[in-house]
Amino acid sequence: MHALRAFFEGRGGVGQGVLARAYERRDGTLWCEGVPLEAIAASAGTPAYVYSSQAMRERYRALDAALTGVAHRIHYSLKANSSHGLLKVLRAEGCRADVVSGGELMRALRAGFAPDDIIFGGVGKRRDEIRAALEAGVLLINVESAAELEIVETEAKALGVHARIAFRVNPEVQVANAHEFIATGSRGHKFGIPWGDVPAVAMRALASPHVEVAGLDMHVGSQLLSLAPYRDGVARLAELARTLRAQGAPLRYFDAGGGLPARYDAEEAPDLALFAEIVVPVATSLGLELIVEPGRFVVAESGALLTRVLYRKMSGGTDFVVCDAGMSELLRPSHYDAYHAIEAVRPRGGTKTVDVVGPICETGDFIARDRLMDDVAAGDLLAVHTAGAYGYVMALTYNTRPRAPEVLVDGSRWAVITRRETLDDLVRLEAASLDWTEA
Ligand SMILES: Cc1ncc(COP(=O)(O)O)c(C=O)c1O
Repeated sequence: MHALRAFFEGRGGVGQGVLARAYERRDGTLWCEGVPLEAIAASAGTPAYVYSSQAMRERYRALDAALTGVAHRIHYSLKANSSHGLLKVLRAEGCRADVVSGGELMRALRAGFAPDDIIFGGVGKRRDEIRAALEAGVLLINVESAAELEIVETEAKALGVHARIAFRVNPEVQVANAHEFIATGSRGHKFGIPWGDVPAVAMRALASPHVEVAGLDMHVGSQLLSLAPYRDGVARLAELARTLRAQGAPLRYFDAGGGLPARYDAEEAPDLALFAEIVVPVATSLGLELIVEPGRFVVAESGALLTRVLYRKMSGGTDFVVCDAGMSELLRPSHYDAYHAIEAVRPRGGTKTVDVVGPICETGDFIARDRLMDDVAAGDLLAVHTAGAYGYVMALTYNTRPRAPEVLVDGSRWAVITRRETLDDLVRLEAASLDWTEA
């Protein structure tokens, strides 16, 4: 139980203070801020996602405070969690938005983010999405290839607008992080303009009357276990900024991307003071406004997935805890082999080594394997922690199981921000009768 205890008792240093845990045990049961999780489960049912507003605010503020040494903009990465209720909380803090699809752009605008508080990135932007971003007037389109630049130019010309772009470059640095699938800034990754191609793409963009090269961007990976890739990446980006400036690029923004980690186990919180020491002097020396695009860091620890134990079952020597949530609610364990701390909301005493699995017809449907955790019985409520990022947004309806609701807690209040999907919702898009088209 060492790691679990450390998880719940841990407070990590962040240079300018500490980040508190969003979930606390009081009178034998687990609370999110001023609300007992049992009350939420009794009313909203399970499975259900719960988020602490305060935890998000605290992380946003800590990062903002760490970067005070330079003009900066924090663009929250909607891909981590794009629920309207969360976006409202973050926007009220002064946070901006980073989107990767026309859908996320729609969500950001719907949540009230001003177009020039939105950055549009992504490796596979469609032409219609680029057009929508130009029509909206986003701050920057982060261009990832020569072919994409051509489409941005064509669309900007057709619309009679000037496209403000940044180059998202692949700095081709060594990235050590939690899983190979979330490393993005090493040689051979699909993301960003390959380092060697940047001069040619830049030459084309600088010659174009339809685009303005306003920024440079990188995103080396997510859940970075060390800040070294930032150091290496921003050094390369700075070198590029100087070269491009000398060629006449009217640069204004220096974007260090996302990637700050969250605590899933007994890790330390990221050292934001050290992060600032890496990025602030570089942006300052270049006279550029610093942009960061955090997702996971801001929302992961605010979230817990509530699930109820349906059955206990022994099979072939494995002790299974079968729950009403599985890979369809939280894909990270099976997709990334990710660790999420799990505890009983009201422990009954004792511990067991178990596999925590869901109801999906896949052997890969699990939330934890071979895990020493609270002993539980059918009917018990479990909290799966650090589920606020890349949780609900990756939820599936596989096996025709409606998606869970999302609940936002703020002090002693809570509200359903996304209702539970119904079976009717699941079949709504299916044609009731076939309307054939003759070829
Ligand atoms: C371009 C870009 N920016 C920001 C992020 C957010 O990353 P994180 O959630 O690790 O902060 C991602 C995540 O993949 C990304 O691809």
